Amino acid sequence: MTKGTYDVVLLPGDGTGPEVVREGRKVLETLLENGGPRLVLSEVQGGAQYYQKHGSEWEPGGRERAVKADAILLGAVGWPGVSLPDGNIAGHGLVLGMRFGLDLYSNVRPCKLYPGVKHRIGKEFKQVWRPEDVDITFFRENTEGLYAPAHGELTRGGTTEVVLDTRIITQKGSERIIRRAFEKARASPRGAPEDGARRVTCVDKSNVLKGCQFFRATFDRIGKEEFPEIERDYAYVDAFTQWLIRQPEHYHVVVTTNMMGDIVTDLASSLQGGMGFAAGGNVGDEHAMFEPVHGSAPKYAGKNQVNPFATFEAVAMMLEWLGDRYHDPSLLEMRARLHTAMASVLLAGSARTYDQGGTATTRDAGDRVVEAIRSEKRPSGSPGARPVAA
Ligand code: IPM
Ligand code: MN
Repeated sequence: MTKGTYDVVLLPGDGTGPEVVREGRKVLETLLENGGPRLVLSEVQGGAQYYQKHGSEWEPGGRERAVKADAILLGAVGWPGVSLPDGNIAGHGLVLGMRFGLDLYSNVRPCKLYPGVKHRIGKEFKQVWRPEDVDITFFRENTEGLYAPAHGELTRGGTTEVVLDTRIITQKGSERIIRRAFEKARASPRGAPEDGARRVTCVDKSNVLKGCQFFRATFDRIGKEEFPEIERDYAYVDAFTQWLIRQPEHYHVVVTTNMMGDIVTDLASSLQGGMGFAAGGNVGDEHAMFEPVHGSAPKYAGKNQVNPFATFEAVAMMLEWLGDRYHDPSLLEMRARLHTAMASVLLAGSARTYDQGGTATTRDAGDRVVEAIRSEKRPSGSPGARPVAA
């Protein structure tokens, strides 16, 4: 059911997080000029730098506000030298705490290359991959695997002798992420760039690991029984790293376990122009949190230099998720307008930040996208928006 009003909590967090979230907010507010759905944006302070000052990772009541929101937009967390008493980096409560606390089991990371975006290879910025060859959606399991809280250490007489991180793969966890991946392949307008096939690739290490054998068997069962028309494809994670870079056009949807997904999606970001373009959604059945994947980048914090496009993409994903969830075409229309604006700015090359070999600032990039949104003709009806069931 369409809600009409959506409560969106912004968690700027640490380092460059506040800078990119500020641009994301600016762009969202521009999309909302002249009407549309009612998005109520409010910020919650938290993260490692907040912890350093106040001794807690969240402002009072902040976690509760985030939990109650219709969607969350996270900047980044983490600050050098600031850890929690348990040894974890401060700010993890905002990321891992929300993933586990809200059961955001599906980490969706699209890897799409926009025309005009360059790749840094060695010291040069070049167009290496063709935009029409890079359009992959990764589904990373987000609530178990090596990230499950099954860690421990054996300390005797003050000496730590053994440390354990246990990898937990469950039937429920595997089934649900695998289903999300197949559903995405089924719903996609197109298949893999190479041949148009709707394909899901299971990335694992099932030649060695028990958990991966189980994950792959679950993939086969669900694929055969529930999605027989979708091609099942397989890759051991080590081989996958080179196939991905050499022939990205083969891949359409990829599903994998938590830690492997963490690693291969950073690698995949090279295909889309780097981490400055990589966005992700942490999605559960009831809640979702969207973020640029690049992290707090302390080296660049406060310098107005980082690329905000990953955050724009995170905003677009958030609009899509809300629009689908509440069957609200006006949100999908906003997303379409945002994508059009992003694509035109990237194609023109008018907002290249340092990671693209340019000198544009974070604010400049946001300004260019704002201008592009304002110069779009406002659609009558909702062309561009996907039809949704009432
Ligand atoms: C990511 C990040 C996180 C992860 C960190 C910040 C806990 O690297 O979202 O990919 O490891 O999942
Ligand atoms: Mn990561």
